[in-house]
Amino acid sequence: MPLSKLAALLFTTATLVALFAAIAEAENPYRFFEWNVTYAHRDLLGAHQQVILINGQFPGPDIEAVTNDNLIINVYNSLDEPFLLSWNGIQNRRNSYVDGVYGTTCPIPPGKNYTYILQVKDQIGSFYYFPSLAFHKAAGGFGGFRILSRPLIPVPFPDPAGDFTVLIGDWYARNHTDLRAILDRGHKLPFPDGILINGRGPNATTFTFEQGKTYRLRVSNVGLQNSLNFRIQGHKLKLVEVEGTHTLQNTYSSFDLHPGQSSSFLVTADQPPQDYFFVVSTRFTNPVITTTGIVHYSNSNQGPSGPIPGGPTIQIDWSLNQARSIRTNLTASGPRPNPQGSYHYGMINTTRTIRLANSAGQVNGKQRYAVNSVSFVPADTPLKLADYFNIPGVYKVNSISAAPTGGGIYLDTSVLQTDYRTFIEIVFENNEDILQSWHLDGYAFFVVGMDGGQWTPASRNQYNLRDGVFRSTVQVYPFSWSAIYIPLDNVGMWNLRSEFWARQYLGQQLYLKVFTTSTSLRDEYPIPKNALLCGKAAGRRTRPFGFYRH
Ligand SMILES: *[C@@H]1O[C@H](CO)[C@@H](O)[C@H](O)[C@H]1NC(C)=O
Ligand SMILES: *[C@@H]1O[C@H](CO)[C@@H](O)[C@H](O)[C@H]1NC(C)=O
Ligand SMILES: *[C@@H]1O[C@H](CO)[C@@H](O)[C@H](O)[C@H]1NC(C)=O
Ligand SMILES: *[C@@H]1O[C@H](CO)[C@@H](O)[C@H](O)[C@H]1NC(C)=O
Ligand SMILES: *[C@@H]1O[C@H](CO)[C@@H](O)[C@H](O)[C@H]1NC(C)=O
Ligand SMILES: *[C@@H]1O[C@H](CO)[C@@H](O)[C@H](O)[C@H]1NC(C)=O
Repeated sequence: MPLSKLAALLFTTATLVALFAAIAEAENPYRFFEWNVTYAHRDLLGAHQQVILINGQFPGPDIEAVTNDNLIINVYNSLDEPFLLSWNGIQNRRNSYVDGVYGTTCPIPPGKNYTYILQVKDQIGSFYYFPSLAFHKAAGGFGGFRILSRPLIPVPFPDPAGDFTVLIGDWYARNHTDLRAILDRGHKLPFPDGILINGRGPNATTFTFEQGKTYRLRVSNVGLQNSLNFRIQGHKLKLVEVEGTHTLQNTYSSFDLHPGQSSSFLVTADQPPQDYFFVVSTRFTNPVITTTGIVHYSNSNQGPSGPIPGGPTIQIDWSLNQARSIRTNLTASGPRPNPQGSYHYGMINTTRTIRLANSAGQVNGKQRYAVNSVSFVPADTPLKLADYFNIPGVYKVNSISAAPTGGGIYLDTSVLQTDYRTFIEIVFENNEDILQSWHLDGYAFFVVGMDGGQWTPASRNQYNLRDGVFRSTVQVYPFSWSAIYIPLDNVGMWNLRSEFWARQYLGQQLYLKVFTTSTSLRDEYPIPKNALLCGKAAGRRTRPFGFYRH
């Protein structure tokens, strides 16, 4: 065969392969969900309470997907209030319109439905969904969200014999309307009444293990404010994954999960056949609240015995040291075949440093919380829709300073603009005496450092620039700082918030606008065809004539 003909053939084959790959990409599997959100009553912690169910379940059903799947989730709001679901840790790449927070998405009116169209692009790991508006999270409406690796991508541990979602969180005997009224009147959130494990009170949740087998537990703290420590009597917890990153597989006798955080553990049923306590207790509180579930060996006919194992209570150093031990396994795969560690984040210079300090105080005689002195108030229109329709007067870009100002707290709709494809550093500075937990939608970030005291540029000398964990929620200890690096590769309007839910509700949040002048679909998708329109965007047309022509 003449060389030129061979070259032509090779070229054709390559083109076909490329074309096929492009089609396969567009044809990732679809998974369909029809969800009905309703109220119901449950007896919890001695109170007859109104809770939020999804398809009759509390917590709601798990979402299970495989990397790159398309999820079509049709949510019917059968409550008497506007409702939105959001997706903690799901990046919704190029598509902040479906993030499900009020800055990006209009609420689903009572009696109406909205179909979320999500793609879990390039993600694996353990996450959860939750209701983002009106303090609904205090009534439930949350559930597990797991993304499995594609079949040919190696997972750095053998298939477990079972895979459990474990949602732990502090809980109140008062319902969400009562709690919301307390906040609206300008007071702080009271101390919780107890802790729930998968929506149930003491001794009401059972995990059944077969002796000798190993199980995966995907644990998320879905509570409103408390850091929680959990442990299993007589068993070790082997950490394997944190919010989508495979970690060094350290073993722990107990583990701290701060509000909004998720982690996976392997637990081997290697003890004599009986039942054991699954224990969850509050951290850094006085008093300490503790609850138990049961790990039942299938060959056991004996309930749990002995004292309920104690855990750390107020010790901060213990928690900080544990947090520093969480590292990325640089040789394990992530969502793609190439090792996630091949992203040498420590070799890239950051182009900008943003410093964010939380504070608490009164505005007009009411309790508020702030970031760099600004206490966030929602606008009358989702910010993302204001951008799309060029509606003026909804918010001002850079209505929050990129460093603490030291000034008093004031109200505004805070939006901080950053440039697409830059690599930035954010330092969270906590000058208060309680732990903070921060979450960024649309992203995962590298946790490069955390320590006590005031952050200074010299603090960078102690950063972990090699194997810091890549996650979406980070804690900041009292009178301490935490630093993260973020590759800003996801255009959109992204909520950066406190996961202490009363603080989020009363203003400790902002939006990070990741901006480009490009209008290419490669950088950002257009507004979804079925987008709900509200506020100043009500009645607009989402697809002006000729949209598809440019
Ligand atoms: C949702 O559940 C409520 C209460 O059971 C029921 O009345 C309603 O018809 C359901 N809606 C849908 C769309 O299934
Ligand atoms: C509501 O559900 C129907 C199907 O039952 C669907 O066709 C429609 O697009 C949904 N509405 C929205 C706004 O997504
Ligand atoms: C919440 O509880 C209060 C009593 O504390 C009750 O009056 C109110 O009706 C409850 N609200 C809902 C929505 O169940
Ligand atoms: C849970 O069960 C254990 C063992 O039966 C018991 O000691 C403990 O009091 C129970 N806890 C609650 C809150 O009922
Ligand atoms: C890291 O992952 C590899 C699999 O890629 C595994 O063999 C190794 O044991 C893991 N290392 C640690 C320390 O967890
Ligand atoms: C990072 O900055 C340093 C100091 O300015 C410079 O020497 C180095 O070349 C930069 N590295 C990269 C990858 O741009």
